[in-house]
This record gives sequence, structure tokens and C-alpha cells, in this order.
Amino acid sequence: MSEFEYASAPESKEIAKIAASYDLFIGGKFVKAKKGKSFDTINPATEEVLAKIAYADKLDIDLAVKTARSAYTKIWSKMPAKERGKYLYRIARILQERAREFAVVETLDNGKPIRESRDTDIPLAAAHFFYHAGWADKLEYAGVGSKPKALGVVGQIIPWNFPLLMLSWKIAPALAAGNTVVLKPAETTPLTALLFAEVCQQAGLPDGVVNIITGDGITGAALVNHPDINKIAFTGSTEVGKAIARSIAATNKSATLELGGKAANIVFEDAAFDEAVEGIVNGIFFNQGHVCCAGSRLLLQENIADEVVEKLKKRMSLIRVGDPMDKNTDLGAINSAEQLKRIKEISNTGDAEGAQRWSAECKLPTKGFWMAPTIFTGVSQAHRIAREEIFGPVLSVLTFRTPAEAIEKANNTMYGLSAGIWSDKGSKILWAAQKLKAGVIWSNTFNKFDPASPFGGYKESGWGREGGRHGLAGYLTSESKVKK
Ligand code: NAI
Ligand code: MG
Repeated sequence: MSEFEYASAPESKEIAKIAASYDLFIGGKFVKAKKGKSFDTINPATEEVLAKIAYADKLDIDLAVKTARSAYTKIWSKMPAKERGKYLYRIARILQERAREFAVVETLDNGKPIRESRDTDIPLAAAHFFYHAGWADKLEYAGVGSKPKALGVVGQIIPWNFPLLMLSWKIAPALAAGNTVVLKPAETTPLTALLFAEVCQQAGLPDGVVNIITGDGITGAALVNHPDINKIAFTGSTEVGKAIARSIAATNKSATLELGGKAANIVFEDAAFDEAVEGIVNGIFFNQGHVCCAGSRLLLQENIADEVVEKLKKRMSLIRVGDPMDKNTDLGAINSAEQLKRIKEISNTGDAEGAQRWSAECKLPTKGFWMAPTIFTGVSQAHRIAREEIFGPVLSVLTFRTPAEAIEKANNTMYGLSAGIWSDKGSKILWAAQKLKAGVIWSNTFNKFDPASPFGGYKESGWGREGGRHGLAGYLTSESKVKK
């Protein structure tokens, strides 16, 4: 059979009007960073500089927090809940109207395939605003008593893997609950947050209700340590999550932390293999594996392991790696040179510790940061690649003999964010789901998200939940607590 090639189908870059430089968004306006420092954000698929971004330090954060406090006291906390909800609806609709532009900017800044930003990130971000808009005037049903109150000013720090989506997971519930926010996007992916600032202006959101400050970990730490913040909401590495927990330990600040994961995707002998293989691929190669709930440990029942691995390798050979702006692309660029280095370092320990590496053959572009989809077989529970979050397109394959052994291995991790179960038997699925120590469990599917469904982990995967009533409750308190 002659080789079948896809014609390229690139999305147009012209749709995104990216400015040469961006200032901080404070009090409804773009303002210069006080010290005038800046940093570049690049396109990880080409290494081209996309824009210069203002670098916020302590003074800028102080201004942002003061502005958010004043907007909270004078405007947002006094506004009838129904009116607050209208702004969220407006934001949701504008996100839908500008969806194509947002998808293009997200893909350029992050490296993820346009198909994913177009079909997953942006629609889900809008869905979070729609969902929470409906909550704004129904907070008494959120589970924190009959007179729930906002917390005040919330500091929010988000990572680079789902930039706009993580922003919406944070901002939508915070605003619905009546808080004002200061949000810091990740240093490699600030652009959609800055575009979102324009959406806030377009929606006529009162000045200071949403403030966006850009910078790195030092900026993030300064936000965490600001004395006038009531709550920190963070998504990112477990290491930084622990540092945040330590910094706020002796304060009145509350926190939700969404941290790492090392999810088990368990395939029992009675599973539908072809569907399971699709789920395995989606579980680990979606978004280049830069997913906290990625199914990064595949647990196969021993008697079916060879057959499933063979099917998986065949399927992996069809994954198209390359230009994220091409609508055919399945696997885009790794988000940064640092992340690629981290992925390679941990993967190399797999070789050193005796696991067998296999990568799909593919031509990687010469510019930018790339990694072929990779699996390791012969992995034992002691291997670093079975224990640490790799956060890249690298899958560790382990085997088990009995269902009890599968559960024991799945739970043998410091994390507990998500898990997948593949089986034909409903009773087995329910039995396993009850025994797995993971916040989110998918059966015969993987990586499914909905704003109404709470998301979050056990153990070192974090504190609290995001999404649904549980996520909303994290932005509220009962009246008596506020008066103290
Ligand atoms: P990171 O945790 O350092 O960065 C996430 C966010 O936190 C960024 O906005 C960053 O500027 C900010 N930040 C960094 N240090 C901070 C501090 N001391 N105080 C407050 N904010 C701070 O993650 P990084 O370095 O980008 O990635 C390292 C590893 O973390 C990845 O390989 C992956 O394993 C994990 N990670 C997990 C994520 C998740 O969704 N659970 C997201 C991003 C990274
Ligand atoms: Mg970038």
C-alpha cells in the first residue's frame, strides 16, 4: 500500500491580533508595571517571540490587591446577586463569540493543537461562565448555610497547560460567589488571560473586579504573601502547592490547591480493547500529556497485556505530531524548553532503571520543543517513571494478575487525582471505583470534564474541589464566620 499523506490544513494566524507588548490589567485599565520590567512570551512550536509582557513585582501587586478590595467593598459586594450573574452570562457569550480568536492565541502561546483549543479549551471555558452565572443568585443552595457570604479578595495562580480554561475554573466561581480577584497566569502562557481582560472591558464588568497581573513564581509568591488576600486558589506543581500551604499556615487565608497526579488507567481482561486503546491514547497524549489528571500509569491485566500493547503501538504510529496550527495535528509542541528537559530527564531514568522504551516513528520539526509519543513497558512500581509526574507524552505500562492487585498498585502513589477503569462488567467497575483513592474516576472513558462536576484530589494531589457545588462552596463562608 502506498503511503497515505494528509494535506496540511493550517488555521489562519491573522485571526489573532497579538499586540507587541502588554501591560498589567488593574482597575479595568492596562497600566505599566511600576519598575518597567518585562519578559517575552514565545510560541513553543517555532521559538518566535509573540509579545513583551509586563513583569509585576510587589508594588504592582499591592496596587492590584488594593484595587480589588475597593471594588469588593464599594461595588461587587453591594450588587444584587442577579445583576452579578448577568455579567457572567455576558462574559460567557463574548467568549463564545470570540472563540476562534481565543483558540488561535491559545495555540500560538501554548503549543497545543488547534483542534484541542478549538474543541475543548475554549468551549469549556465559556461553559464554566455559563454554569456559574446561574449560581450567582442561588448561593443559599451551595451547602454553606442559608446566608452564604463571599470571602473578599481572592488571589489566583494558574499554570500553563490549560491557560484560559484554568482561568475560567478560577474566575467564574469566584465572581459568582461575590468575590473580586487578582489572577496571575503562568509566565509562558499569559496571552489569553490578557485577551480575557479585554473581554471584561467589553462586558462592562465594574473596574477592579478582575485584575490580571503577569510575572513568574516570585510574582506568584508575592501575591500569596500579600496581607489583604482572603483566599489563594492555585493550580500547579505539588512542590509550589506545599510552599503556598506553608506560607499561609499562620494566617487567616484559606486555600484550594489543585496539584499533581499519577493516574492509573486500569484495563481488565473483559474490556473492549479497541475502545480501551482510544482511551489510553486520549488519557496520556491529550494536550501533550501536560495534564494533571493524565492516565500516565497504564495497568494491564497480565493475560491481555501483550495484545493491548501491540494494538497501542499500532495506534500510536498514527498519531500526527507537528504544527499545532494544523487542524490535522494530534500532538503539538511541548510548552517550554524547561518542560522538555524535565520530561527527558525523568524518562531517561526509565532506561537506566531497566524499563523498555518504545517511541512511535515520527519526523519532529527542527525548531521548537518536541517529544515523540513514548511508552515504557516492563515498568515496576519502584521505578521513578511509575512514581513521579512526568507531565509529558510518556506512558508507563505495568501489569497485574487479580483485580485486588490492580487496586493495590493503582493506590500505591502519593497522588490521588484521577483514575480510569475499563471493563465490560458494571459490578466490577463499581467495585473498583469504591476502592480507588482518587478524586475523579472515569469508567470506559477518560478526560471528560463538565463544569457541574467537582474536580480535585486526595493526598498530595491537593486540597478542595473545583467545579460544581463543591467548588463554589470553596469561595463562600457562612455569615457568622465573616463577623468574627
Ligand atoms: P509551577 O507550579 O512552578 O507553576 C505554576 C504556576 O505557579 C505558575 O503561574 C508559576 O508562575 C507559579 N509559581 C511558581 N512558583 C511559585 C511560588 N513559589 N509561589 C506562587 N506561585 C508560584 O509549575 P512549573 O514549574 O511550570 O512545572 C513544573 C512541574 O509541575 C511540571 O512538570 C508538572 O509536573 C507540574 N505541574 C502541574 C500542573 C497541574 O496542572 N497540576 C500544572 C503545571 C505544572
Ligand atoms: Mg508562550
